[in-house]
Amino acid sequence: MNGAVAGITSTGSKRPEALFGGAVAGVPRAMVRSSGCRVWDADGREYVDFIMALGAVALGYAHPAVTEAAVRAVGAGVVGPLPPVLEEELAEQLRALIPWVEQVRFLKTGAEAMAAAVRLARTVTGRDAVLGCGYHGWLDWSQGPDASGVPASTRALYAELPFKDPERTRERIRQAGSTLAAVVFEPVILAPPDPEWLAVLREETTRSGAILIADEIKTIGRLALGGGAERFGYRPDLVVMAKAIANGFPLAAVAGRRDIMAAVSRTWISSTLATEWVSLAAARATLRIMVEQGVPARLGELGTRLLGGLGELAARYPGVVRRAAGLPEMCCFEFHQPPTGAALAVETARRGVLFKRSAYNFVSLAHDEAVIDRAVGVLDESLRAIVR
Ligand SMILES: Cc1ncc(COP(=O)(O)O)c(C=O)c1O
Repeated sequence: MNGAVAGITSTGSKRPEALFGGAVAGVPRAMVRSSGCRVWDADGREYVDFIMALGAVALGYAHPAVTEAAVRAVGAGVVGPLPPVLEEELAEQLRALIPWVEQVRFLKTGAEAMAAAVRLARTVTGRDAVLGCGYHGWLDWSQGPDASGVPASTRALYAELPFKDPERTRERIRQAGSTLAAVVFEPVILAPPDPEWLAVLREETTRSGAILIADEIKTIGRLALGGGAERFGYRPDLVVMAKAIANGFPLAAVAGRRDIMAAVSRTWISSTLATEWVSLAAARATLRIMVEQGVPARLGELGTRLLGGLGELAARYPGVVRRAAGLPEMCCFEFHQPPTGAALAVETARRGVLFKRSAYNFVSLAHDEAVIDRAVGVLDESLRAIVR
């Protein structure tokens, strides 16, 4: 690598620093191929992967039916001057899968779709303030007080809500009062939400006239076809989806109530390649497989095996591992000392397993019980090497 890419790579979470705590010997830097639950680095070394493109792949890499649909779409020209027929078809398919969704709008990245949802909320309410809980991407509107390069006036419009803290959540929403355009939240942050917190989010946003936006970028198609809303039984006004919906092809969507989505004609949300049809075709195929093969249920089974293994290891190495965290479908360890996570990721990579040092590891349809059991064995060996 000659340093032509600023900051090593364009996806910050794929930097050696983010994955392994730095560029150390024996870990992969860059890769050339992915298939199923395996990837190959530039030296041709094979790894079993649990990072799964940061949760963007739920069927396994290069799933044949998705690849075939995408290749056909490439052959059909990729883009054109008019909306593709596939756009309406995919929106219909999503409406059928998530019955409370009335309309859909497509974009390319999760951050972009979140920004669109917030823009719609601001347009509809005529208000500016946003309260958020979780990670919502790199764009200006959701950055905290220390973000450099973001105007102070923009940062002042955004504040954090505490996850699963109904009292403080109620208080902050009430304090924001009639300035509040939207509350955006991730349904899972290392733990499932609880019904009381979800009820406060719904009641208080309704009471204040703010729009409730569920950031289901990691959870749609993984926790359930309809994400956390289906699994935990809440009903936001808008939902934002990405990642698993197109199995790694660049596609995101904002969707929800028709009266709010109608605000697209009162503001400007448009992107040249939002309607390229390779990703639309990939998403059509992905969603079909998700339904036909009951993918979220299978991810639940496999994830339960992985999280169970992590739980046993946490009990075996209590001096370094604080606990196994998350849900079966998206899980990780928490360590007493964060550098242990990096050390573990290095040790497992040297043994041919890519394991995320913090939130999250993801199973896919391409993993199976034997692969998971072997990976848990590698984690065991790696932890043993660390405590030695
Ligand atoms: C919950 C959540 N929201 C937003 C984003 C941003 O999505 P993207 O990286 O596609 O812009 C992510 C990405 O990890 C995410 O997990």
